[in-house]
Amino acid sequence: MLGQMQFDSVHVLSSVGVVAVLYLFYFIIQTTRNELRIRRLGVRAPVLAQTPCTGLRWFVAAARAQLNHRLFEFFDDMFAAARGAPTGDDCVEVQVTRAGGQRYIITRDPEHVKAILAGQFAQFGKGKEFHDRWSPFLGDSIFTTDGALWHDSRGMIRPMFVKDRVSDLVVFERWSAALVRQIERQRRGLVDFGAEKHNGGGEGVVDIQSLFYRMTLDITTDFLLGASVDSLSNPRDEFAEAFNEVQRLQMYITMLGPFFRVVPRRRYKAGIRAIDRFVMPYIEAALKLPAAELEKRTSASSSEFTFLHSVARHTRDPKVLRDQIVAVLLAGRDTTAATLSWAFYQLSRYPAKVARLRAEILDTVGPAPNAPSYENLKNMPYLRHVLSETLRMYPAVPYNLRIALEDTAIPSKDGQGPPIAVLKDDVVVYSTLSMQRRRNLYPQSRDGGDFADPALFEPERWENWTPKPWTYVPFNGGPRICVGQNFALTEMAYVVVRLLQKYDQIEYVGDWNAQFHEPEIVGKPGQGLRSGCTRQRVQRDEREWEPKSGTLEEPLVPITTEKEEEMKKTKRIQRRGGWA
Ligand code: HEM
Repeated sequence: MLGQMQFDSVHVLSSVGVVAVLYLFYFIIQTTRNELRIRRLGVRAPVLAQTPCTGLRWFVAAARAQLNHRLFEFFDDMFAAARGAPTGDDCVEVQVTRAGGQRYIITRDPEHVKAILAGQFAQFGKGKEFHDRWSPFLGDSIFTTDGALWHDSRGMIRPMFVKDRVSDLVVFERWSAALVRQIERQRRGLVDFGAEKHNGGGEGVVDIQSLFYRMTLDITTDFLLGASVDSLSNPRDEFAEAFNEVQRLQMYITMLGPFFRVVPRRRYKAGIRAIDRFVMPYIEAALKLPAAELEKRTSASSSEFTFLHSVARHTRDPKVLRDQIVAVLLAGRDTTAATLSWAFYQLSRYPAKVARLRAEILDTVGPAPNAPSYENLKNMPYLRHVLSETLRMYPAVPYNLRIALEDTAIPSKDGQGPPIAVLKDDVVVYSTLSMQRRRNLYPQSRDGGDFADPALFEPERWENWTPKPWTYVPFNGGPRICVGQNFALTEMAYVVVRLLQKYDQIEYVGDWNAQFHEPEIVGKPGQGLRSGCTRQRVQRDEREWEPKSGTLEEPLVPITTEKEEEMKKTKRIQRRGGWA
């Protein structure tokens, strides 16, 4: 018996030994093979982690930074750690296992962004892993696919974004009027949405960011389905809440890389079911339409034309329709709401810029109730500069990634020296936020010009400055450039016009120093935007446009010298490098 046990343990030990030796061989062979592949292609960027232990530590630190809303600073520190490296300090590498395993190459170099989005487009894509992690939410949509599937999606979606469609401003008018009504109701304390009252907090104070998010959801659902969730009136809508929650969890699933399984799935799946419960009835109704009716609704003159009807002409598959709709909903909703929020946050620092913008609007469109035409919106340079400047400081998609579909390399620093090797399945993470905040990508004042400090919100800089190619890419570039760019710019311009026609001052009543960039999939002001923001201009001709339910209110307290002092102080903080 004892002999048998001894034999068994020797047997087990020797088996373990054999496995260990085999693993060691595998490790050495894999490591050598990878190193040889890398050397054949170029060099490595500075390596910040290379073992399961350091790799895990890195991912935990990244997740913690995300949780504490300090991802931008985390990225800055990463690049700072590479200072002095021969390949420069704009690109670093993190690897989870030395023996191959996936590498993460993280960059803020415009030449790299150009390579992966345009020059070497075919060598990079969303990849299988991204597809698998995002497909419970976005299925096989334009966002999660590559190659022919992506190409077909783009072909299906693009017709909805041609100029003739985007210049139809009815949807924007409907929901910006609803926004103004809601601002007025909240300012008068006629609405109590619980948490929102807490966020807005107080007499005449509105959390305008929350209203922007609700308005863009209403615009996007109206545009996509021909029926809006009307979340401006029903903020507690099941769909709206589920959509927010799924996005939040999706960001963690993406961020945690190989450790994504720790994210709780129950709420994620329940959220997706709630989204489907909202979207599917519209899809089923569209699919029941006889072909002739569908054709009629998609004719250029039809007022019932929607994205859903347009896509339903290409496919009768409810899953394909569902996936594309949810993807465009994601693309179109938060991006515009966050950008509008940042624009108003920054404008509220500068009454003179608000006055200039408002003067341009009144000169071009006239006072309310005059509605802006598509041509008006395109012909207001200062308005355009305000939006460009906002997207320069706060690109709505601050972090993004592509997977290498084959072994390749991305350009070296300044085009000198060997390129940086990228192996098949490596993930290249690029941050437009980190890149667009690199001071050395802007004209330096020592060059003799008077280029305003890039840390400051200065729409005027766009009057005689064009960013160098690929240093400003809030909408991405190359074949996958944002298909909704024109729609987004038109929508945001429309809303700014409608708000500034009505209000002549914007005031931020939150804590300037506590404001921060909250990086979910889209980066938004983390503190919301508590605004006494929009002060009514008491003007007779505007009363006609006044929402039926309301009466004009007394103006809020004027901006005092104390307030101006506070603004100057904030400016000083910004100059020192804080970019909140
Ligand atoms: C401020 C507003 C917006 C910004 C900054 C923005 C930015 C972007 C970016 C960076 C991408 C590339 C994502 C990637 O490939 O990984 C993208 C793609 C896309 N965007 Fe936008 N977007 C905005 C608004 C919109 C709107 C309003 C819509 C539609 C209603 C839209 C529809 C899309 C679609 C469908 C794609 C996928 C394109 C493709 O993969 O071929 N976007 N957008």
